[in-house]
Amino acid sequence: MVLINECKHNNIKSMCGIVGYIGTRQAFPVLIKGLKRLEYRGYDSTGVALVSTNAMLNVYKEEGKVANLEANVANRDLGGTIGIAHTRWATHGIPSSTNAHPHVSQSGKLALVHNGIIENYSLIKERLLKLGFVFKSETDTEVLVQFIEYVKETHGVDTVTAVRLALNQVIGAYAIVLVDKEAPEQVIAARKSSPLVIGLGEGNREFFIASDATPLVEYTQNVVYLNDGEIAVLKRGEEMQICNLKNEAIDLDVQSIEMNIGLLEKGGYPHFMLKEIYEQAQAMKDCMRGRLLEKEKRVVLSAVCNHSERLLNAKRIIIVSCGTSWHAGLIGKQLIETFVKVPVEVEYASEFRYRNPVINKEDVVIAISQSGETADTLAAISLAKERGAFIFGIVNAVGSSIARTTDTGTYIHVGPEIGVASTKAFTGQLTVLIMLALCLGKERGILSEVEYEEIVTELAAIPDKIEHSLACNEKVADLAKSFTYARNFLYLGRGYNFPVALEGALKLKEISYIHAEGYPAAEMKHGPIALVDTEMPVVVIATHHQLYEKILSNIQEVKARKGRILAIVTEGDEGVRDLVDNVIETPPTLACLSPLLTVIPLQLLAYHVAVIKGLDVDQPRNLAKSVTVE
Ligand code: G6P
Repeated sequence: MVLINECKHNNIKSMCGIVGYIGTRQAFPVLIKGLKRLEYRGYDSTGVALVSTNAMLNVYKEEGKVANLEANVANRDLGGTIGIAHTRWATHGIPSSTNAHPHVSQSGKLALVHNGIIENYSLIKERLLKLGFVFKSETDTEVLVQFIEYVKETHGVDTVTAVRLALNQVIGAYAIVLVDKEAPEQVIAARKSSPLVIGLGEGNREFFIASDATPLVEYTQNVVYLNDGEIAVLKRGEEMQICNLKNEAIDLDVQSIEMNIGLLEKGGYPHFMLKEIYEQAQAMKDCMRGRLLEKEKRVVLSAVCNHSERLLNAKRIIIVSCGTSWHAGLIGKQLIETFVKVPVEVEYASEFRYRNPVINKEDVVIAISQSGETADTLAAISLAKERGAFIFGIVNAVGSSIARTTDTGTYIHVGPEIGVASTKAFTGQLTVLIMLALCLGKERGILSEVEYEEIVTELAAIPDKIEHSLACNEKVADLAKSFTYARNFLYLGRGYNFPVALEGALKLKEISYIHAEGYPAAEMKHGPIALVDTEMPVVVIATHHQLYEKILSNIQEVKARKGRILAIVTEGDEGVRDLVDNVIETPPTLACLSPLLTVIPLQLLAYHVAVIKGLDVDQPRNLAKSVTVE
């Protein structure tokens, strides 16, 4: 039976968070708590489906955040030990309770949550419409659940078989979880290109399903990551079964995960973002633990030791990433070119994947990603792999798709980052890039012993300096009050601090919705200077490093146009203070390490401006943390 044989293959994926449960507890609280942990993946509408003890299927959906659903269903029948739930980032159809998941089949027997995009959904829908099916929503997900039911009925097969047969005809990306009220003792999960992890309760008494491990860690440490094309069948009290789309049994690969639950809570801070800014000193220590050996003045990265030949023979390094990770990549380029003397290109993954880039077998591609799930970065990796490049990952999320796709790599180990605007992941990525450049530079004999030891010693001192930098918080909070009027901001920096200017501007845009641009300070005169007037705050990174004197001239140029200048300077600086309106001091350090310190006041500035404007700092509008859409 072939319903669909062609479609426009546009390779789109979507975000969204999925949670599922089958076991002995009441499912609803587990699902709601799990959804809250996954809200970073999207938060425009929410829904749950519960299979009650008398095999009723109760489905509740609301527009808006998880808390909204929770408040609105308080008086409804929430009983049941089996359920599925979803938090959405809209792709097909506006955010509304109708378009929210779970979607239910025509007979009302099957309910499905889905993360991804069924690319040939319109062809399937057309066919089902002709057969008399009625659709309530505009989503591709409703088409999938109806299609599964259609297959089940026309073939007279059980639900698991129907899911498998249907998925064989589906083009696109999916992580799905499905319940059938007529088979109330099982939950079915499947994945292709969208992540899904299953937590195993003791004695197989219960199973937890989620888009990532954060909803599972408080219940179990034993997890199975589903691979593409796999279907899992979860039944209370039985070992889980996995098969592929050809119905071949797959062996279980149970992995152990460890995560500090405290890192998933706000811990007394008003927002995750502020907490994560404050965690940076500790996060950096965690990132360097066992890798930076302070006494020996050495850095050891196992990935470099294990693949030194491949890495050291690289003729060229290409860094692919998106957003904040791309900014880290720009700093990585300067570090590697300076310490290792290998040419480095930094590419937006989204551009790289589509422009038929020249990639050679000797190239090393470094993929940087906090979430490890970014669709564009994943696609860039697979293109580079196809052409024979060696892939090195710098990832935070352990076990994520990128971590599992790369040839080798180094986790940044900064703990889960929940605030949508990335902060501690950025400093973690920089820390790994510095350690990587140090290892390679030393091995290649480009860095002298003296230089190497000086940088290693100073790197070890940075966490304390970050702690010290955070003392500017009150001053920044105070200053932020006078900036909320601004409609535009300019951020300027040079050398290692030009990407920090980009990052400062991105932070402000993301959470305060103020337009901001980052520029190399000297490039300002070629355009942006036309924007400068008394209304235009200009943030200048003017620490005692490369091109300090030149930056003083750039400051003069802004001052002559009456721009309002906030300068990030080195402690004790006298050269800038009299020229600008305000200064924030950061501890002295080496130029190559300065981004780890100069970014701190910029993160705080964005945070406080957004808080004063009364905005949702942790979940800014239209954004999501794990961008699995291209
Ligand atoms: C989203 C996030 C950013 C992040 C970017 C890349 O846009 O909001 O904070 O920098 O994705 O994500 P990745 O997980 O690949 O670092």
